[in-house]
Amino acid sequence: ATEAEEKDLVIIGGGVAGYVAAIKAGQAGLSVSCIEKRGSLGGTCLNVGCIPSKSLLNNSHLYHQILHDTKNRGIEVGDVKLNLTQMMKAKETSVSGLTKGIEFLFKKNNVEYIKGTGAFADEHTVKVNLTEGGETSVRGKNILIATGSEATPFPGLTIDEEKVITSTGAIALKEVPKKMTVIGGGIIGLEMASVWSRLGSEVTVVEYLGQIGGPGMDAEIAKMSQKILTKQGIKFKLNTKVTSGDAGSDGVKISTEAAKGGKEETLDADVVLVAIGRRPYTAGLGIENIGIETDDKGRLVIDQEFRTKVPHIRVIGDCTFGPMLAHKAEEEAVAAIEFITKNYGHVNYNAIPSVMYTHPEVAWVGQNEQELKAQGIKYNVGSFPFSANSRAKTNLDTEGLVKFLADKETDRILGIHIVGPNAGEMIAEGVLALEYGASCEDVARTSHAHPTLAEAFKEAAMATYGKAIHY
Ligand code: FAD
Ligand code: NAI
Repeated sequence: ATEAEEKDLVIIGGGVAGYVAAIKAGQAGLSVSCIEKRGSLGGTCLNVGCIPSKSLLNNSHLYHQILHDTKNRGIEVGDVKLNLTQMMKAKETSVSGLTKGIEFLFKKNNVEYIKGTGAFADEHTVKVNLTEGGETSVRGKNILIATGSEATPFPGLTIDEEKVITSTGAIALKEVPKKMTVIGGGIIGLEMASVWSRLGSEVTVVEYLGQIGGPGMDAEIAKMSQKILTKQGIKFKLNTKVTSGDAGSDGVKISTEAAKGGKEETLDADVVLVAIGRRPYTAGLGIENIGIETDDKGRLVIDQEFRTKVPHIRVIGDCTFGPMLAHKAEEEAVAAIEFITKNYGHVNYNAIPSVMYTHPEVAWVGQNEQELKAQGIKYNVGSFPFSANSRAKTNLDTEGLVKFLADKETDRILGIHIVGPNAGEMIAEGVLALEYGASCEDVARTSHAHPTLAEAFKEAAMATYGKAIHY
């Protein structure tokens, strides 16, 4: 871009929020530039988040299953060895294939990709420090901020990504630590605890709250998931607060105390994973130059149409309100471009699914029981265990259940919560049902192929207003 050139849209950040917006804008015929400093597109999700973590989760699950769950299936295997270097290479192949794919999609949709760090010079101008050296400026009629998030640091523990790590270090360890302590039993903590525990590490998860899973997970489901993960070998310390940490040459010491005061304990580990949440990333963006505000959590403040105080500057994804999820960022990207090109757009925040990719997976959409109780909403519960589902039985993979929460008066679906095999795929049907305002009976009267895990979904819906057939 040259000084004089003005684009219809300039996007800062090439993560899921930014790259989806760029492609959509290109498709709508806007002239668009996307500035990304990382050196590759796809942001946290593709480079150090969703994709590499799911590669390791899948392959560590395979390894663990081959070690512990083949004989009873009539499969005798010989020497099973872990080749961690190759497992990491497989991860890198998945990541690079996908990030390069986005570069291709940028070309296809006439998106200009500027490699560098963007900062506001004024309300219409973004100055870019180019990765290859030098500077340029781009002007935008509209500007979209999509700068994402970063791991929240733990006070007093310096992250070196080797001994004291965030998720970024946890997807790139060079050897399996003998002992690992995880601070925070949210989604990152549990996914990474699963990977390293399966590969042979002794993992202890320390969680401040009385339940695992982070915000939103139904308490019954969280309890069931914790029980299953405990059986797999992960240790949990709930209602326990990490107060300080000390990294030395012989490992990392963590001091904890009971959340409600009292009992203190010290935990030793080779590696400590800090997974206490993520925070918006807006460092160096120069928002102070143009008067854009952040709230007390550092989130960029926007209105219903994603607009900041400066109406032609919008914000989407992890750096603003809402759950920090890739598919939420994607929905916002589409809606933001629709606001720019058509003056209307919409995201249904009540129908954004959450998935934890442990084994079995945990997935949910809508409200959980704690939330309904707190609001005094009267509801019916229908559940169905995978132990009574024919496909789960043939797969010898029967842990978990599907649970529907429905309005007591109308049978309208309020929430769906699953712990079980393939929960992450199955929840898509739940999201669609919720999006279309379905009742449980609508789902239960829909034919589901036999034998499939999805029949557990249908029967849980049936159990909400009547009786399940197979349980
Ligand atoms: P990001 O992906 O963080 O992208 C922002 C981009 O902006 C970055 O690439 C950054 O380099 C760039 N940037 C920042 N400032 C500037 C600047 N000034 N100039 C130029 N570029 C800049 N979500 C899911 O839905 N499913 C999952 O399975 C899942 N797994 C995850 C696993 C891990 C370990 C982590 C950490 C996260 C995971 N997430 C998952 C969350 C998901 O990664 C985020 O919600 C998603 O990446 C948000 O997209 P974004 O575009 O808003 O931000
Ligand atoms: P989180 O908010 O899910 O969980 C953090 C946990 O740490 C909470 O349970 C909290 O109570 C606990 N905690 C905080 N301080 C503590 C302390 N001092 N001692 C002990 N426990 C403490 O955050 P997490 O797991 O870091 O994930 C960040 C974001 O990334 C999430 O918002 C999530 O949406 C996203 N993500 C999504 C994934 C998915 O969709 N599968 C996978 C990984 C991340």
